[in-house]
Amino acid sequence: MTQTLLLLPGDGIGPEVIEQAVRVAEKVAPDLALEEGLIGGISYDQLGTPLSDETLEKAKASSAVLLGAVGGPKWSDVARDKRPEAGLLNIRKGLDTYANLRPALCFSALADASALKRELVEGLDIMIVRELVGGVYFGQPKGIETLPDGTRRGFDNAEYTTPEIHRITRVAFDIAKGRGNYDRKWGGVCSVEKSNVMDSGLLWKEEVQAIYDAELKDMGVPLHHMLADACAMQLVREPKGFDVILADNLFGDILSDEASMLTGSIGMLPSASLSDAGKPGLYEPVHGSAPDIAGQGKANPFAAILSLEMALRWSLGRIEAADEVTRAVSTALEKGARTGDLGGDFTTAQMGDAVLAEL
Ligand code: NAI
Ligand code: MG
Repeated sequence: MTQTLLLLPGDGIGPEVIEQAVRVAEKVAPDLALEEGLIGGISYDQLGTPLSDETLEKAKASSAVLLGAVGGPKWSDVARDKRPEAGLLNIRKGLDTYANLRPALCFSALADASALKRELVEGLDIMIVRELVGGVYFGQPKGIETLPDGTRRGFDNAEYTTPEIHRITRVAFDIAKGRGNYDRKWGGVCSVEKSNVMDSGLLWKEEVQAIYDAELKDMGVPLHHMLADACAMQLVREPKGFDVILADNLFGDILSDEASMLTGSIGMLPSASLSDAGKPGLYEPVHGSAPDIAGQGKANPFAAILSLEMALRWSLGRIEAADEVTRAVSTALEKGARTGDLGGDFTTAQMGDAVLAEL
């Protein structure tokens, strides 16, 4: 069966960086069928909605979705539910992508751009697996109320259920199994929570352990538990001790942003959001539409190219092609390919050329 990759370039630098990822896709996976659709501000302008039913149906029918970025000052006065960013939330919800994967990969050539010393980060390769559709961001009730004495009270409800914890744990173990880095200090899966002070965190720890004992132990992947604040500390003290970090929505959000600073520029960071096996995954750079440099050919396309790499690996089963892309990006960096965010003056297209030359 033909595999299809749906391209949703979106706004700002989105189309510019996706264009380079497409050149790479055409080279390493020439039989892949590429389709295109609208999302974000451009969709709002043309169709009056940031995510049309047509785009969502196309996404559901595809093997994987590669998204650029959405948003920009042009749409700042649009109602909240019609904003470009609503398109992003709706497609994540529509595809039920509950597992967010954020690699923190430090290419040797960029080790000096890290917030930490070279020896701490050179060769760093860790993966944060964040639960994306549950927890304190979505728990009910939530709100802000004014008490009779005039005091204002804001509240959110942190909650998780066993199925939510079990399914994200299975994803983390599958990934750790494929990576095989069991010899690191916290190698395999390191699950983080605040079981010492939160009941939902205690349930998280107990249920990760329970599904491991019942179902996952035979995989041979080690399991560690760590408190989230300790993890935040170890991430800057000994980041290479980690392999796969499994976290809930809140802690995963914070720890993945922390880990991203170990690796250099925001223009380098890909992400994947996965649903159940066999359903399409959503792949996108971590960065936004960068209105300050949009249309100038200055954007770094490596986050988009590495997002394609993740799509090849996690949705399309093309591991060799994925490895080849990673190698080509690494070599291009070693040979000096640098956009402005990395301290160089390459154009977006020249960055694409540099990767293509290594494929
Ligand atoms: P941003 O990530 O777009 O830009 C932050 C800074 O990083 C800017 O100086 C930008 O020039 C630079 N930058 C970002 N990507 C780059 C790349 N590939 N190469 C070189 N430099 C790069 O974040 P910002 O400015 O907060 O948001 C701009 C717009 O993007 C907003 O409308 C925001 O809502 C939207 N946004 C969309 C996201 C998405 O589509 N996933 C994520 C974050 C923001
Ligand atoms: Mg964040």
